[in-house]
Amino acid sequence: MIEGPTEASDRSPADFSIVVNGGAKKLGVRGGMTLLAALRSQGIHLPSACGGKGQCKLCRVRVTSGAWPPGEIETRAFRKDELDGGLRLACQGKLHGDVGIEVPPEVLGIKRFRGQVERIDDLTYDIKRLRINLIEPDSIEFVCGQYVQLTMPRPFKEGGPVYRAYSIASPPREKNAVELMVRLVPGGVCSVWIHKSVAQGQEVTLTGPHGQFGLTGSNKPMIWIAGGSGMSPFWSMLHDTRTRNAARPCTYFFGVVKRRDMFFADELSAMASELPWFKFVPTLSGPDPADNWTGDVGLITEVVGRHVPAGTDAEAYLCGSPGMIDASIKVLRKKGLGDDRIFFDKFA
Ligand SMILES: Cc1cc2nc3c(=O)[nH]c(=O)nc-3n(C[C@H](O)[C@H](O)[C@H](O)COP(=O)(O)OP(=O)(O)OC[C@H]3O[C@@H](n4cnc5c(N)ncnc54)[C@H](O)[C@@H]3O)c2cc1C
Ligand code: FES
Repeated sequence: MIEGPTEASDRSPADFSIVVNGGAKKLGVRGGMTLLAALRSQGIHLPSACGGKGQCKLCRVRVTSGAWPPGEIETRAFRKDELDGGLRLACQGKLHGDVGIEVPPEVLGIKRFRGQVERIDDLTYDIKRLRINLIEPDSIEFVCGQYVQLTMPRPFKEGGPVYRAYSIASPPREKNAVELMVRLVPGGVCSVWIHKSVAQGQEVTLTGPHGQFGLTGSNKPMIWIAGGSGMSPFWSMLHDTRTRNAARPCTYFFGVVKRRDMFFADELSAMASELPWFKFVPTLSGPDPADNWTGDVGLITEVVGRHVPAGTDAEAYLCGSPGMIDASIKVLRKKGLGDDRIFFDKFA
């Protein structure tokens, strides 16, 4: 039996068991910590992109025995039938007894890596590219679109490390390193650390690969939509597709506000000239006159609305802020795309 995180417990921590996927793993853990932390302490790295704040819902598990009464956050996160079926957030329940859970089988393959920052450079004034060489283990298997969770060690006097998700920008054939693109969120715990403190040569830890976002195996034309550091998975996909010569017609809409927010536009335009299947549509929503911008202008949703024909049989892939993604999905639906052809990764 485990309790919600707000419930006080006067029982002292003790050893309990967690049975995962009907016995695929049996773990003995200390009580008193959250299910998420207990699993992590035993090498099971559930995604937890919001760092346990109950926002991302990525740490969801199905509790098959020893479930706790859902708290307010879980009641908001899940429908009643989902809660009745055992869905819970692992960051929201504290262990005070044995528990049985089900997680997607691929979660058991997520590893913890020790790495070293090989390079950190500016893509724009507020986006950095980080290349991390993997030391132990020294290689990672992933598919384009997946992400890693970077660990920031103990940012606060009290409490443990924080974990944040960053999409992998490098292609899967580069197994000994991962590249990330990180936008500075003013006041943000981890992105400020990456921008202001992390330096070349520094050791870092990360877990991965996480996530389900990625290209389907269909031959349908593709629409890619990204803003800012949402470029990351598409940079991986583009380089991978080009190398494997596995091209599908692709129109890439990349939206930022001003010229100073734009990056890789020259490289992507050059690729568009070279690759017959690839079209690049860089867009500014609020250019300054001094930007001398001759490309598309408008919110990315307006530009997508102008370029994408009604009734298209394309698949759409979106990455970036939740607001941009939700607004773009509305436009795509109006163009006739069903939800079964729309795939996205929200950066929140
Ligand atoms: C699957 C996934 C993949 C991601 N990939 C990337 C990536 O490739 N590159 C990247 O830069 N980020 C990515 N993110 C976002 C990233 O994980 C962090 O949320 C982000 O770096 C902010 O973390 P922080 O610790 O700096 O801010 P926090 O301390 O968590 O937040 C500080 C404040 O900023 C707000 N905030 C948090 N995130 C944002 C945001 N994105 N925009 C505006 N306000 C925000 C919070 O609500 C809070 O008020 C991804 C997120 C997910 C879920
Ligand atoms: S870690 Fe984000 S909801 Fe649990």
